[in-house]
Amino acid sequence: MRHDTIEKSLNLMVVLIVLAISIGGLIEIVPLMMSSDVTEPDEGISIYSPLRLAGRDVYVREGCYNCHSQMIRPFRSETERYGPFTTAGETVYDRPFQFGSKRTGPDLARVGGRYSDDWQRLHLMDPRALVPESNMPGYPWLADNAVDPELVTAKLRALRLLGDPYTDEQIAGAAAAVEGRSELDALVAYLQELGTNRKNRR
Ligand code: HEC
Repeated sequence: MRHDTIEKSLNLMVVLIVLAISIGGLIEIVPLMMSSDVTEPDEGISIYSPLRLAGRDVYVREGCYNCHSQMIRPFRSETERYGPFTTAGETVYDRPFQFGSKRTGPDLARVGGRYSDDWQRLHLMDPRALVPESNMPGYPWLADNAVDPELVTAKLRALRLLGDPYTDEQIAGAAAAVEGRSELDALVAYLQELGTNRKNRR
């Protein structure tokens, strides 16, 4: 009987559906917000250096995430190929995180140190010079673009507002840390540390 009443009233139905979904959502989301596994950095994970932060933004701007994920799933086929699976605690300083599920190229979460800096530079300039069958585009302009020191400083300030523990000295020194560096330098610095500061790396 009562079910009948709900089914016949669109408004009541909508309100009750929204209520049911909200409660379900809260039960899933709120405990996660309280859990330190998710909100605190894993051992060894630290805030991005100014140069790596600039490189990370180049990565996002150029859309590398369209072909590369940074999320190793906890399956043997993935951990055998890429290394230990990704945890929430290693991505707390990633805004936005680069998890992704689209892999035209390999996952990059543990790519740091796999190749030399020179390999990374050349590969980004002209992927087919190193991997003839690659369909990754080249990004030669990154070598000519300078990192903007003022912008990096502003980004560090903004991240501190969001809770990242940058000190006054780090913010004051940010401009000098990226002065004269190209976007290619920054991107390579970013890539070369991906996954390297985790405790359980192999
Ligand atoms: C159109 C898809 C595509 C885009 C966009 C793309 N890549 Fe790739 N990437 C690939 C493919 C395919 C490979 C594997 C072949 C190769 O090494 O070139 C690869 C390989 C790589 C590798 C070597 C990974 C390994 O473990 O061997 C790195 C590092 C990399 N890409 C970084 C980047 C970065 C940084 C960007 C953005 C500036 C980017 N890629 C954009 C497709 C892409």
